[in-house]
Amino acid sequence: MKIRSTASPRRSGNRVQASFRKLGHSVMGIALVAAVSATAGAQATTVAGKERSTRPPVVDMSFPEGWAPKHVPVPVVDDHAMVVSNSRLASAAGAEILKKGGNAVDAAVAVGFALEVTFPFAGNIGGGGFMVIRMANGQAVAVDYRETAPLAATRDMYVENGKLTRKSTVGGMASGVPGSVAGMAAALAKYGTMSLHDVMQPAIRLATEGFVVDSATSRSLGASARLINQFDGAAVFLPDGKPLQPGTLLRQPKLAATLRMIADKGPSAFYNGPIADEIVNQMHKDGGIITKQDLADYKPIFREPIVGTYRGYTLYAMPPSSSGGVTMIEILNQLETWKKLPDFNSAEYKHILAETFQRAFIDRNTKLGDPAFVSNPIAMLTDKAYAQRLASTIKPDRATPPPAFSVAAEAMHTTHYSVVDASGNAVSTTTTLNSGFGSGVYVAEGGFFMNDEMDDFASEPGKPNQFGLVQGEINAIQPGKRMLSAMSPTIVLDPSGKLMMVIGAAGGPTIITGVAQVILNVIDQHMSLADAMYAPRMHDQAWPDELTYEAGGFSRSAMDSLTAMGYKLHPVNALTNVNALMRAPDGHWVGVYEPRSTGAAVGY
Ligand code: DON
Repeated sequence: MKIRSTASPRRSGNRVQASFRKLGHSVMGIALVAAVSATAGAQATTVAGKERSTRPPVVDMSFPEGWAPKHVPVPVVDDHAMVVSNSRLASAAGAEILKKGGNAVDAAVAVGFALEVTFPFAGNIGGGGFMVIRMANGQAVAVDYRETAPLAATRDMYVENGKLTRKSTVGGMASGVPGSVAGMAAALAKYGTMSLHDVMQPAIRLATEGFVVDSATSRSLGASARLINQFDGAAVFLPDGKPLQPGTLLRQPKLAATLRMIADKGPSAFYNGPIADEIVNQMHKDGGIITKQDLADYKPIFREPIVGTYRGYTLYAMPPSSSGGVTMIEILNQLETWKKLPDFNSAEYKHILAETFQRAFIDRNTKLGDPAFVSNPIAMLTDKAYAQRLASTIKPDRATPPPAFSVAAEAMHTTHYSVVDASGNAVSTTTTLNSGFGSGVYVAEGGFFMNDEMDDFASEPGKPNQFGLVQGEINAIQPGKRMLSAMSPTIVLDPSGKLMMVIGAAGGPTIITGVAQVILNVIDQHMSLADAMYAPRMHDQAWPDELTYEAGGFSRSAMDSLTAMGYKLHPVNALTNVNALMRAPDGHWVGVYEPRSTGAAVGY
C-alpha cells in the first residue's frame, strides 16, 4: 500500500489548518492546503489584485508505505504576507513588524534578532549568515555576513602532533568573527524602511519579559548539555545541571541589555563598543583568539546573487562565500538535460539525483572558496553546456564510485527564515552558529553563544570536517578569510517572472540538496508545497561514498534496484530543515515550516 497525501481543506478565518488521522497503521495527511491542491484549486477564489501563479496543476502524491515523518506539515495560507521560521515567536515578531507597515527586510531583521532570543541553539548574534533579497521592483541582492577567520588564525591551527584536534568545533578557538549584527543592520539600512531600534523591539521584549520554554528547546538543551556545561551558558540554560524544563519562563536580562545597546547605538556597540569588550574578555577566558581589531575590521558584503534558470523558472541564490547557489544551479542544470524526470518514487529518479548531487559536490569541495582569497570558476560551474557534459557521464543503471572516505556525522544547528510582504518584496535568510549552541562558548556578560564556524574551513585539506565534507586547499584557513558555506537562501520566480517561492534550509551540506529537492518536487513532480516539504529526502555529497536517505522514504523495490546499481544506502532519521513559502495558484501566500522540526508560518 502507498500512503496518499490528499487535500481536504479546513479553513479558519482566512487560514487553512492542517490535521491528520490514522489510517490503518499509517498516518495520512488529510488537510494540506486548499490553495495549493489540485482538487481545492478549482474551488479557490482569486484574491482581488493578487498575482496568479503560472505553474501547472498540483498532483495528488503517493509516498512509500513506511513513510511517516514526525509531523504532518502545517501549511498556513494568508492573503498579504507570510513569515516562516523555526520559532513561532520569531515568525510572530516578523508578522508584527509587517503589520506595522514594515517591509520584508524590516521583518526579516526582526525575525533574525528574535531567533537569537527564542532559538538559542541556532539564533545568532554570535554567528553569521546570508540573505538573498528581491525587491518587488525586481532589484535583487545577496548580503554576505559570513564570519571571518581571526587575524591570528593559521592554516594548521587545529592540527597538533599531526592530528586534527576538536578545537575547530568546541571552545574559543572554534569561533570566527561574527557577522550577523553587521549584516542585518546593513541590509536594513539599505533595503528596509524602519529603524534598527524599531525592528528590534520584539526581540528586546522577548528577552526582557521572557518566553515559555517548549519541549523541543528543553530537549535540545539536554542533547547539548555536555557542551554547554563546559562554559558560562550553563548557569542560564542548565540551572542545577539540568536543562530548562518545558513550561519554564526564560528571561534573559543580559541578552536584553545587549540587544538594547545595539538597538540604541547601532552595530558599532557590538563591533567597537562594550559588547566587543565582552566578546574579547570571554575569548581570553575560553581560549579564543578573536581580538578587538578583528571585530573592528568586520564588514558585511553586498554581492550580486547567482541567477540561474530551470525549465523557465528563475532562481536567485547565494554566491560564494557560500557554495549554495553555484552547487544548486549546477545540480539543476544537469537535471534539466532530462526532458522529463522519472517518477518521484522510482529508483531511476533517486539514481539521477544522487549522480547529479555527487558531481556538483566534487566541484563544490575542490573549486569554491572565499572570493577575496581565491578565484571561483562560477561561470563555468553554472554553464548549461558544462552541466550537459557532466550529465552525459551518468550511466543509466550504475552508481559512479568516488574516492572513498569514512566519517561520522554530529549534531548541528542552523536556521532559515523566509519572508514576503504585501508588496511582493521577498527575503530569504539562512543564519547559523554551525553546531547546536555553536562552540559552546557563551559570552556571559552579553548573553549569547559564539559560533564554531571555523570548522567549515578545510582544517586539513583532504580530511573530512564534522559534516564529512572533504574539501581542498581552496578552502584552507587564512586570516580574514570567510569559510566556505553550504547555506542556500533562494528566491524562485515562475516562468512569467513573478515571485513564486522563498526557500532555504539548515543541515550543513544537505542544505543544498534539500532545497533543490523541494524545488524539484514543486516544479517537476507538481507537488503542493506541503507535499514537497513532507516528501522523503535523500542526499549524496560524493564523500563519503554513500546515498543517505530518510528511513521509510524509499520503497523496498527502489532500495533493491539502487543496491544492485552499486549504491551504499545509508538510512537516517531526518534530512535537512527547510522553511519555505510559495504563491498559491490563486495568489495567496502559503507558508510551511519544516515538518521534521519545530516552527511556524505566520501571515496576515
Ligand atoms: O555554513 C554552513 O554550510 C554550515 N555552517 C551550516 C551548518 C548547518 O546547517 C548545521 N545545521 N543544521
